[in-house]
Amino acid sequence: MSDYRILVTGATGQIGSELTVTLREKYGKDNVIAMGHRRKPSKTLEESGPYITGDVRDRENLEKIIREYDIDTVYHMAAILSATGENNPQLCWDVNVNGLYNLLEIAREKRIRIFCPSSIAVFGPSTPKENTPQDTILTPTTMYGITKVVGELLGEYYVQKYGVDVRGVRYPGIISSETPPGGGTTDYAVEMFYYAVKGEKYTCFVREDTVLPMMYMPDCLKATIQLMEADFSRLKHHTNFNVSGMSFSAKELEEEIRKYRPDFECEYKPDFRQKIAETWPRTIDDSCARQEWGWKPDYDLEKMVEDMMKRLSKKLR
Ligand SMILES: NC(=O)c1ccc[n+]([C@@H]2O[C@H](COP(=O)([O-])OP(=O)(O)OC[C@H]3O[C@@H](n4cnc5c(N)ncnc54)[C@H](O)[C@@H]3O)[C@@H](O)[C@H]2O)c1
Repeated sequence: MSDYRILVTGATGQIGSELTVTLREKYGKDNVIAMGHRRKPSKTLEESGPYITGDVRDRENLEKIIREYDIDTVYHMAAILSATGENNPQLCWDVNVNGLYNLLEIAREKRIRIFCPSSIAVFGPSTPKENTPQDTILTPTTMYGITKVVGELLGEYYVQKYGVDVRGVRYPGIISSETPPGGGTTDYAVEMFYYAVKGEKYTCFVREDTVLPMMYMPDCLKATIQLMEADFSRLKHHTNFNVSGMSFSAKELEEEIRKYRPDFECEYKPDFRQKIAETWPRTIDDSCARQEWGWKPDYDLEKMVEDMMKRLSKKLR
């Protein structure tokens, strides 16, 4: 079915959990090994193929897993996200930087391919906020953003110096219904749905006029797999592609959700995450991804909200 032998780190996370299942459908369930850490795997994840646990900071164990399962491709989804990272910057650096370094070193020796996600958190207060260019000022103010800049640069170094195949996109805030997000600044855009569907009032932790780039999970999975299937020799960028899905304010999301739940109530009480959000772009220029590997999103705000409401209503019934 497939020549690839894939390891997904962070497989119990918001993205990893759905990515693993999608990769299994595409490449065969026994060819995709899910690696979790602490968080309990869902039944779907555990039953759809091989599941193991491990810490990305433990290089010896990573090496053993890669050898034993004959892995040639790693989707590296394990990380500490922005809000959690601000509460524990040391852990954020350790997992995000040392975990990736371990994998890159293994990749250098064993010639494995790596997908390592970056984030819009690489941008900072001095980055242009509208239509943020591909190649622009990177001055993040969070430890998470700093680790993501390091990740982009380290990955590109291994491409240039050692010819390792490393690729990555700068994900915007990812919206999904399967696994709750793991402590990022854009979590409100998922939480709002859960409260609306449960008929509860939501207190949003950013201001109502906060606009951030977002993407629906099907587009996130499509971008990830499409970039990994692109012809590597044709890529000019490798580890840092801007990818755009949609941009909206928290208020616009509330209003769109209210079309399905007219009684939905939302109030706004910004906390420390407001400050983080203010350092990030509002809209993203993804023309390099479009030109170099044919990126094009399928979902806008309306289409995403319609699908989320349908899925979550079923899930929470
Ligand atoms: N979800 C988003 O909105 C978003 C946006 C931009 C970038 N990203 C990036 O996408 C990737 C996946 O994010 P996600 O949203 O699925 O995150 P998540 O927090 O939901 O999942 C991350 C997973 O990493 C695992 N993990 C933590 N420490 C580990 C360790 N030491 N060893 C092994 N595993 C460990 C956790 O068990 C967790 O399940 C990350 O690199 C993240 O930075 C996500």
